[in-house]
Amino acid sequence: MPATDISVANALQSRRSIRKFTDRAVDPVVLKTIFAAAQRAPSGGNLQPWQATVLTGEPWQAVKAAVAARLAMGREGYQPEYDIYPKELTDPWEARRFGVGEGLYAALGIPREDKAGRLAQFVENYRGFGAPVMLFLHCSRIMGPPQWSDMGMWLQSVMLLLVEAGLASCPQECWAMYGKTVRETLALGDGQILFTGLAIGYADEGAAVNQWPVPRVGLDEVIDWQGF
Ligand SMILES: Cc1cc2nc3c(=O)[nH]c(=O)nc-3n(C[C@H](O)[C@H](O)[C@H](O)COP(=O)(O)O)c2cc1C
Repeated sequence: MPATDISVANALQSRRSIRKFTDRAVDPVVLKTIFAAAQRAPSGGNLQPWQATVLTGEPWQAVKAAVAARLAMGREGYQPEYDIYPKELTDPWEARRFGVGEGLYAALGIPREDKAGRLAQFVENYRGFGAPVMLFLHCSRIMGPPQWSDMGMWLQSVMLLLVEAGLASCPQECWAMYGKTVRETLALGDGQILFTGLAIGYADEGAAVNQWPVPRVGLDEVIDWQGF
């Protein structure tokens, strides 16, 4: 560590959400170094509200099995921790959300009519896309939006450090759909709220699902310059 000598800009450019991992194991010493570095992430009032549970092997299998049982229940199995998106998501955000889904399925050659194919790809989420390590990011339930943004800063710090170490990741808020089961399996208790999973491992570089271009809107849509 680091496996590569990479600038922050290059790490930002090359990080992407990886949705197919190899089964190569991840060295826990590398992870520990990354988490130690990510502790430098800023947080309002220096609260450092992020808490994470990192799993591999049997404990990770146990979460997958527990959530698979809920998945089999269909909609009745849902236990959402929070609304992943606003209930009424309007454009331009809805168009962006729709666009990324279509880009993903197009890269995999799964047409809209192939509902079973799309569902099968979605369910891959709950295998962590084959990642050998799963990190669950959670915090005390008393925390509010400012502390959730702190968790985001920690998460991005971890993801960039993973890139620097030659590792890959996929943030996965889909686990929050089964938050109670995840928390119970991890023995977290109701005082914690689950924000997201983060699948960690080595990317299957050749996989089409890891290669399609994920667009971003232009600066004119997000930055308002005043006084320049
Ligand atoms: C907090 C968070 C949760 C996410 N949850 C999921 C998820 O459950 N499943 C998934 O496939 N991608 C998930 N993503 C990945 C986003 O779709 C992805 O970041 C976005 O489309 C931009 O693509 P990129 O990460 O490849 O640059 C999540 C991203 C973030 C930041």
